[in-house]
Amino acid sequence: MRFARWFTLNVMKCKLAWLAGSCLIVWTGVATAAVDAEAAEDLARKNKCFKCHAIDKKKDGPSYKKIAEKYKGKADAEQKVYTHMTTNPKVEVDGKKEEHAALKSKNDAEIRNVVKWILSR
Ligand code: HEC
Repeated sequence: MRFARWFTLNVMKCKLAWLAGSCLIVWTGVATAAVDAEAAEDLARKNKCFKCHAIDKKKDGPSYKKIAEKYKGKADAEQKVYTHMTTNPKVEVDGKKEEHAALKSKNDAEIRNVVKWILSR
């Protein structure tokens, strides 16, 4: 389900649940399930990230699962990955240094959604 629709639905549920005092539970749900996997994969596909990355196997780049593993429990994970995806750092592909592709989007929240998506593989 698209996040926006899901969100509206939950806001409605939240309003209904408010009287019963369970609003907080609904909002906690919103905070933990905030990754829109569909949108993240869509943007990654458009940016040809899957040319070098797969979710769970190594290609020219490490799998997103491996990346998530590497950053597990690190407080600065989101910032590190965000920087990697927006500043064209040099990486090695087939023994040659080249500029890493940047994730292009006009919307910063969309980029952060992909960062969260990768880190939650
Ligand atoms: C030409 C191949 C190639 C493409 C295209 C590519 N990557 Fe990568 N990517 C790599 C390689 C190689 C590494 C490993 C870099 C290293 O560990 O030094 C990497 C590493 C990463 C990392 C881990 C960074 C870290 O700090 O460990 C992330 C996240 C990432 N890529 C995301 C993306 C996204 C998102 C896209 C699409 C915009 C993308 N990549 C497109 C080759 C590619």
